[in-house]
Amino acid sequence: MKLIVGNQKSYLSSTEIDIFIEKLSNIQRKDNVLICPSSIYIDRFVSSGFVTGCQNVSKYKSGAYTGELSVEQIKSVGVSFAIVGHSEVRKNFNESIIDTNTKIIRLLDEEIVPILCVGESKEERDEGRAKDIVLEQIEGAFEDLSPDLVKKVLIAYEPIWAIGTGEIPTNDDIQDMVSSIKEYLIDNYDVSGIILYGGSVNNENIDELNEIDNIDGYLIGGASTKVYEFLQIIDKCEN
Ligand code: 13P
Repeated sequence: MKLIVGNQKSYLSSTEIDIFIEKLSNIQRKDNVLICPSSIYIDRFVSSGFVTGCQNVSKYKSGAYTGELSVEQIKSVGVSFAIVGHSEVRKNFNESIIDTNTKIIRLLDEEIVPILCVGESKEERDEGRAKDIVLEQIEGAFEDLSPDLVKKVLIAYEPIWAIGTGEIPTNDDIQDMVSSIKEYLIDNYDVSGIILYGGSVNNENIDELNEIDNIDGYLIGGASTKVYEFLQIIDKCEN
């Protein structure tokens, strides 16, 4: 069964979240479905019985950091996963690979599972550098991590050019990238790795994506905010 992670970004109002939770109530406590809502709604998902994640986390410990969410805080409200290194955070908030590495270490210290996002730009793909870029991102994010810790991190391959665009790589290209990531993890850490694909996953392309045999799940943005579409995707990933 595939792991389905919904990254709801900063979509949905309070009322829309209530409707979403009500309609999704039949999948509460499904261990393979995880929702990362906007942080103001985390508590509602946790108390409704969903496995809940965070879309980002502070690189600092709790303290005088206005606007930040510390790892200790997200742990205290029952968050069990956190996305790190998302390309939108790297771009909009200048997250460096060192920051991503710090966040991963802090999360693992508190036993929260990091979901590390990696992916190339269109230009990097066209120049034939996609694999190098992705493996470099992984190498930087895993700096100083032992194989025992690396084993606990999920990786989401999200080509930047596929996020929110409706454009996705071919199945062969996804399969090829996932194989390279898995090979890298085996060679360097003797870890097999859990790899998700993200970028324009929707109800129309999910059947075709499900034909790729080496991916372990999906990180879904826009389509995870549309409750019926999200339910259909979950359904199609049951087998
Ligand atoms: P979309 O599914 O909207 O392309 O977003 C993907 C994403 O960024 C998930 O983290």
